[in-house]
Amino acid sequence: MRILLLGSGGREHALAWKLNQSVWANPLYIAPGNPGTAACGKNVSLDIRDFEAIGKFCYLESIDMIVVGPEEPLVNGLYEYFKSKEELQNIYFIGPSQKGAMLEGSKAFAKAFMQRYKIPTAAYKEFTIDNYEEGTEYLQKHSLPIVIKADGLAAGKGVVICQNHVEAIAEFELMLHHEKFGNASKKVVVEEFLNGIEFSVFVLTDGKNYAILPEAKDYKRAGVGDTGMNTGGMGAVSPVPFVTPGLMRKVEERVIKPTIKGLQKEKIGYTGFIYFGLINVKGDPYVIEYNCRMGDPEAEVVLPRVENDLVGLFVAATQKELDKVKIRLDPRSAVTVVAVSHGYPSSYETGFEISGIDHDFGKQTLVFQAGTREEKGKTITNGGRVLCVTSFGENIKEAVDSSMEVLEHIGYEGISYRNDIGYEFIKKPSDF
Ligand code: AMP
Ligand code: GLY
Repeated sequence: MRILLLGSGGREHALAWKLNQSVWANPLYIAPGNPGTAACGKNVSLDIRDFEAIGKFCYLESIDMIVVGPEEPLVNGLYEYFKSKEELQNIYFIGPSQKGAMLEGSKAFAKAFMQRYKIPTAAYKEFTIDNYEEGTEYLQKHSLPIVIKADGLAAGKGVVICQNHVEAIAEFELMLHHEKFGNASKKVVVEEFLNGIEFSVFVLTDGKNYAILPEAKDYKRAGVGDTGMNTGGMGAVSPVPFVTPGLMRKVEERVIKPTIKGLQKEKIGYTGFIYFGLINVKGDPYVIEYNCRMGDPEAEVVLPRVENDLVGLFVAATQKELDKVKIRLDPRSAVTVVAVSHGYPSSYETGFEISGIDHDFGKQTLVFQAGTREEKGKTITNGGRVLCVTSFGENIKEAVDSSMEVLEHIGYEGISYRNDIGYEFIKKPSDF
């Protein structure tokens, strides 16, 4: 099967690594990819926003399956583009329709969808410039803290948690009157704050059936002990110790099943991943957000734990046969630690040579590349999140220790990473 994977981050390296293990992936192209994906297939220089160029490549290379890593092309209608062209419409497409991608592309759409299908989520109201006054009155009376979200895609930055009413009204004004997040904040969602611990569940769906993949927890804050700025993710663990079979049953019954039913009822085409960002409030799961793709860096711990052939899973999804699939898992713990550029998520420099990544770190560790590029045979830093070092272990501590040890051997100017990923699940001497 001739496959094209779109994207260039750590998630796509993990997807490419997993797809490349399948005998069915031949050849595997990655566009634009990174030096890590180049070791799993053939990188192709295509802009993922250029639908015409992607379509032309697929036609000329007789691509059988396209797998979309990031959300942007999906939210912008890549699925519809493929379905509108006679020469592309029969290509197996892994990724939802534009309407399906709205679950991530519009917070207001996602909230209304959850309300229609009684999916547990924080109480909310949506506002635009047209009901601005009503919004400020609503905020005045709102319990604290108040969560304000830009409706559209804002590169993971569109959520602000306000500790007092003055701050909330200022933020509301910035988003609606001053377009703080451009078009994305022309509409905002004001939401009740939920107190609990977050985790993420992923399914692969064909729009009718679904296969549940291993859950994960990511570490969004830049600093040790979950302090500092929000990032795209500084690390992740899977499995998550507090996600018991009982909690997972609640997630399936209250969140996954009604979501899939809703998609079916509204005739929303969806063949691909759904990422449920959840919060455990006293044993009950609530949805914080949907994403229409795999998480990053969650993919770097979830995919290595899945033992099934990924091309086989994708084909089953395109045939609406995911009900016949049984997911087989590596029972070990997987942890990924993200090495970033100094200064990330604020300003940072790139262009530094990375040493030590070609070393053989043994079977328990995988080094996924994210923000990297190749220059004269060398691997150079090329982004905020540079590498994701994933290790397996009998428990989280063992896995983290392996990733830490590997990171000792890797270097570039300004390398920085959290050394406490999974900390709340690791017993300290005082716990014994
Ligand atoms: P989102 O982009 O919707 O995932 O939100 C980013 C982060 O904001 C989440 O990962 C949570 O940590 C936090 N957050 C969002 N909504 C809420 C909420 N209703 N209650 C508490 N925290 C929230
Ligand atoms: N790690 C969070 C995300 O992928 O959205």
